[in-house]
Amino acid sequence: VPLPRVFSGIQPTAGSFQLGNYLGALRQWVALQETAEAFYCVVDLHAITMDWDPEELRQNSLTSAAQLLALGVDPARSTLFVQSHVPEHLQLSWVLECVARFGEASRMTQFKDKSQREGADGSSVGLFTYPVLMAADILLYQTDQVPVGDDQRQHLELTRDVATRFNNRFGPTFTVPSVFIPEAGARVMDLQTPEKKMSKSLPPAGCVFLLDDPKVSAKKIRSAVTDTGREVVADAANKPGVTNLLTIHSALSGRSIPELEQHFAGRGYGDLKKELAEVVTEFVSPVRARTQELLDDPAELERVLAGGAERAREVAAATVADVYERTGF
Ligand code: ADP
Ligand code: NA
Repeated sequence: VPLPRVFSGIQPTAGSFQLGNYLGALRQWVALQETAEAFYCVVDLHAITMDWDPEELRQNSLTSAAQLLALGVDPARSTLFVQSHVPEHLQLSWVLECVARFGEASRMTQFKDKSQREGADGSSVGLFTYPVLMAADILLYQTDQVPVGDDQRQHLELTRDVATRFNNRFGPTFTVPSVFIPEAGARVMDLQTPEKKMSKSLPPAGCVFLLDDPKVSAKKIRSAVTDTGREVVADAANKPGVTNLLTIHSALSGRSIPELEQHFAGRGYGDLKKELAEVVTEFVSPVRARTQELLDDPAELERVLAGGAERAREVAAATVADVYERTGF
């Protein structure tokens, strides 16, 4: 039996991943390599839906690829590539834009959130059609499973709907993928505004980047918004900030939440924050060091990415040929 196909992508925005990316998605990327045939993509085309700097984007894509390798993505087992190196993503995306419906795209809550700053009228058209490009990313590889954080649930539902509609209209073409969301760490919250998810595209004060100097992340954790109580217990409704810190601790240290509540019994938020900073430092230190080593040899990094793009294109080109045949091109 062939192994299940896995696809997932991550934006290179900001040049460093954050803890939510790791706990919600990247941890699963690494684990799934054992049991699946994986395609992992730095989705640089998705990173230009908001204002961007060309030189930064180019560098951020390389830094992102280096971090994925440092976290344990193994190019000998998995296909690691940069989205813009595989033009089939755009070829499929246009066809899917003509299959997706304006109404369904209009219901995407991420567009509503992200377009708030510019207003819907001032936002790029790409910000609106982003979920359709994401559907193309996934469907190109005949993907069975998509490991993502909880924030991507609605986009995955759109992907499934578009794939099903296409298959019904033009015949069986795409595998309809299922979503793979982890039980713990699926939604890491911003440290300053714990009602929002942590994101690399939000102000950095509430976001712990993997490439942050540990002194910087310790300061962010120390300044995390908590509540006026004093007990270290998980209570998402009344103590979202403390609950978030416990969730991160638990996911990184492997200790259960009840065990941590015991451990912090009779101690305050200061102790929790201090210990969490240590846990984070222990996790990020080797990742930062390895990322830097990989960035010191850009020729090797580019060689790995060229190999990944070549392998990705074999699969992607076959899908596009089938789609074009079925749709009249
Ligand atoms: P960001 O919002 O940081 O730019 P991306 O859109 O690049 O993140 O998403 C990359 C992956 O990380 C996706 O699978 C997404 O679901 C996951 N992810 C992003 N933020 C979080 C979070 N705060 N908690 C859990 N998973 C997250
Ligand atoms: Na995002």
